[in-house]
Amino acid sequence: MDPTRRPRRLRRDGVREIVSETSLSPSDLIAPVFVDATTDERVPIASMPGHDRVPVASAVDRVEEVLDTGIETVVLFGIPESKDATGSRAWAEDGVVQCAIRDITRETDATVITDVCMCEYTDHGHCGILEDNARESPELTVDNDATLDRLARIAVSHAEAGAQMVAPSSMTDGMVGAIRGALDAAGFESVAIMSYAAKYESAFYGPFRDAADGAPAFGDRRHYQMDPANAREAMAEVALDVEQGADVLMVKPALAYLDIISAVRENFDQPVAAYNVSGEYAMLHAAAEKGWLDLDAVAHESLLSIKRAGADLILTYFAEAIADQL
Ligand code: PBG
Repeated sequence: MDPTRRPRRLRRDGVREIVSETSLSPSDLIAPVFVDATTDERVPIASMPGHDRVPVASAVDRVEEVLDTGIETVVLFGIPESKDATGSRAWAEDGVVQCAIRDITRETDATVITDVCMCEYTDHGHCGILEDNARESPELTVDNDATLDRLARIAVSHAEAGAQMVAPSSMTDGMVGAIRGALDAAGFESVAIMSYAAKYESAFYGPFRDAADGAPAFGDRRHYQMDPANAREAMAEVALDVEQGADVLMVKPALAYLDIISAVRENFDQPVAAYNVSGEYAMLHAAAEKGWLDLDAVAHESLLSIKRAGADLILTYFAEAIADQL
């Protein structure tokens, strides 16, 4: 047959570019930065090639490296000097993240977002205050309601230090409302909340848990993070966070959850963020190291697919490398 419709006409060099539906820009990307109070020097993260934990004294240098690529926004994670049952270093005025925020906002123009969670700060590695007897019973882990006011204190301490946006990641029911109320009561009405609204109990977080030293000491997170089998439940989770005042809605992980990103985009009008997590980064690096994949190409294609699915913003360990390519 003689086709009159020839889609290939639009795939010629010079034409392909002008009909491209999706593009990536450095302003879509958010670079994660790990600040570590237990070290005086930069420590490479073995399972995340190219990423280091940096001491507070190097936080500004680290953020300047990010800014040099054209990326304007970082999300900060902290590794405290000590841990305890209630994660008290998470809201300390002289805590690792609080000190880093003050330095970064004083010395750079970066937009600072902070992860609000307790798993890096508790000696048991769970994302909140434990229920009584949690260690003995596999059905028990985090006391949801007792955790809310801790998360609120952490968020306020980040805002006091100068964070422009806080990102609660603990999947505590009611966390967005508790944080919004506490921020407003402390005079931080203009600090935004990016909620990890649909965060799955995923095996793709492995390398991060090494990086941030936040693996649970017992049990797992399935009582608070979402079941990977569920999509409708994600819409219910996101709707709750919207009601409670979430400004940006995050889906995490990204690549295995493109359907969720797309559904959140369809159903809600807030900006949508996707977290291209540590395991998604590590697997491409591992395959590239073996010579099996072209790293730059697969990283770009991955981020493009996340954007195409509907994400406005992407938190990714590839941020700097991709911004350099662009
Ligand atoms: C803290 C937190 C985690 C990640 C971001 N914030 C770990 C977890 O929930 O276990 C994972 C990020 C990544 O894998 O890149 N709760």
